[in-house]
Amino acid sequence: MYRSHTCGELNLTNNGTEVTLSGWVQKARALGGMTFVDLRDRYGITQLVFNMESDAALCERANKLGREFVIQAKGKVAERSSKNLNIPTGEIEILVSEFTVLSESETPPFIIENETDGSEELRLKYRYLDIRRPKLRDTLIMRAQINKAVREYLDNKDFIEIETPNLIKSTPEGARDFLVPSRLVNGAFYALPQSPQILKQLLMVAGMDRYYQIVRCFRDEDFRGDRQPEFTQVDCEMSFVHQDDIFDTFGGLIQYVFKKVLNHDLPALQRLKYDDAIRLYGSDKPDLRFDCKIVELNALLPKSEFGVFNTQIENGGLVAGLNAKGCAAYTRKQLDELTEFVKASHRGLGGLVNIKFNEDGSVKSSIDKFFTEEQLREIGKAFDAQKGDLLLIAADKISKVRKSLGDLRLDLAKRNNWIDEKSWSVLWIVDFPLFEKGEESGEITFAHHPFCSPHPEDLQYFDTDPTRVRAQTYDMVMNGNEILSGSIRIHQKDIQERVFNNLGLTPEDREKKFGFMLNAFKYGAPPHGGCAFGMDRLVMLMSGGDTIRDVIAYPKTSGGRDLMMDAPTAVDEKQLKELGIKVVG
Ligand code: AMO
Repeated sequence: MYRSHTCGELNLTNNGTEVTLSGWVQKARALGGMTFVDLRDRYGITQLVFNMESDAALCERANKLGREFVIQAKGKVAERSSKNLNIPTGEIEILVSEFTVLSESETPPFIIENETDGSEELRLKYRYLDIRRPKLRDTLIMRAQINKAVREYLDNKDFIEIETPNLIKSTPEGARDFLVPSRLVNGAFYALPQSPQILKQLLMVAGMDRYYQIVRCFRDEDFRGDRQPEFTQVDCEMSFVHQDDIFDTFGGLIQYVFKKVLNHDLPALQRLKYDDAIRLYGSDKPDLRFDCKIVELNALLPKSEFGVFNTQIENGGLVAGLNAKGCAAYTRKQLDELTEFVKASHRGLGGLVNIKFNEDGSVKSSIDKFFTEEQLREIGKAFDAQKGDLLLIAADKISKVRKSLGDLRLDLAKRNNWIDEKSWSVLWIVDFPLFEKGEESGEITFAHHPFCSPHPEDLQYFDTDPTRVRAQTYDMVMNGNEILSGSIRIHQKDIQERVFNNLGLTPEDREKKFGFMLNAFKYGAPPHGGCAFGMDRLVMLMSGGDTIRDVIAYPKTSGGRDLMMDAPTAVDEKQLKELGIKVVG
């Protein structure tokens, strides 16, 4: 028997009991004839004590224990004289009578505690040591609890978990595929699934009615803090449902998971239309933990000689702004920083107009030359400006103004600590457009994927004004992050044809890419819809992590590398030959 208890469970109720513990040496220190060793396992830390007086030889052996040695120790539970009430085992210690070193350890390359001296690169290389740190360990435990709660909930609602293959044909999620060469058919490739989208729809055609899978997806795209090349979805699909059924089911799922894992009561999720989200928050994933909406001024501005506003309004642009509440005392330097922020190349505004409603009741602005104080106060009314408020106004193309003010809104929240980190904003964004127009190419592409059902009442715009067609597509947004996406799917052949037509897919393209799916739909496809949660993002938010790397056991770096296994790497010439592949360059 290696252990009678774990290192996290003993307390004063065990006082006097003989126990055996096994674990890692967190640290050992000799102090006035005694040696104290903190023994750690997944469950916690227990203090071991060795006494020079009662057993000098044992104590001397204990003094040789190094960090991360794995040992087994036997002894008696005793009450501690100086208690540590911060940990569950902090009122006891083990008076060790005998111990065995099960395996030694070299000095670890970084400190294995929450506050560590290891860089992220080093920790990724030695990820198995990193996972010994309580922070990462607890996150992985929370991830398992979330998985369990998801399964419980879906199971209770008659969903069944069905596995789908990883070696498949390319799926249309809009990213680049990872390809796997076939040895048996040289020159042919499997694609790793970007998601099981088509496969789950075919399970609905197969009559399985309610499917889910906690599944790995693969996308060869550029990585950011919230993206990994392989990531996990809770992928779901249901038959005979409308959007409302989906909102109830998966809104309910997130409420269930929050209650189970965080013991937090999330209120029922609100719905916000995509158009409103963009208009009011400049983003399709608004963070509503704070207010600060974009206020549009085109129709409200008093007549003036101010060319910047006038030109934009004449050219179909937008003049709009934000009320930075309580920021009227911003210095020149702070205002310059905000201006630089919106001028950054990916935002591209020309500048920002400011109007200060000072605490002393005066109004000062960067456009004093063009507007009277009375006019400025009139503009202030649109923002409900009070003493102490600062208005920041931009004028440019509609999409540029909205995007920049949306970003600025988040920046202001950060600067001013407007966000209560303990609060949650979880909502549905609904009525996304079915098609998008490429910014540069002007080409029509699908906004989500080509199987999303249009709103029936918008079918009239299909040929004349396709970007006006709304889709029955929805996202769930948590604290400003997209954590779920889905749609009601097209199950009627004629509508699918019309979507493909608008996307410019030739009959040959359709046959080549989706032939097997279109064929299946000839045999009775039920109305169906579904969604997929981004599991990594959900766990990141629920565990308070900064990036999804923090919640994945073995993540890739931003350069797509696995530093621990050192992948990707070159392979043998022989392997390549079998696959019929020649590496050039
Ligand atoms: P979508 O592509 O929006 O939809 O993905 C669903 C959710 O998965 C998460 N996600 C990612 N997480 C980490 N790294 C990535 N590279 C990454 N890409 C996406 C996001 C996103 O909301 N088949 C459809 C779903 C459906 O229609 O049912 C799909 O995959 O949180």
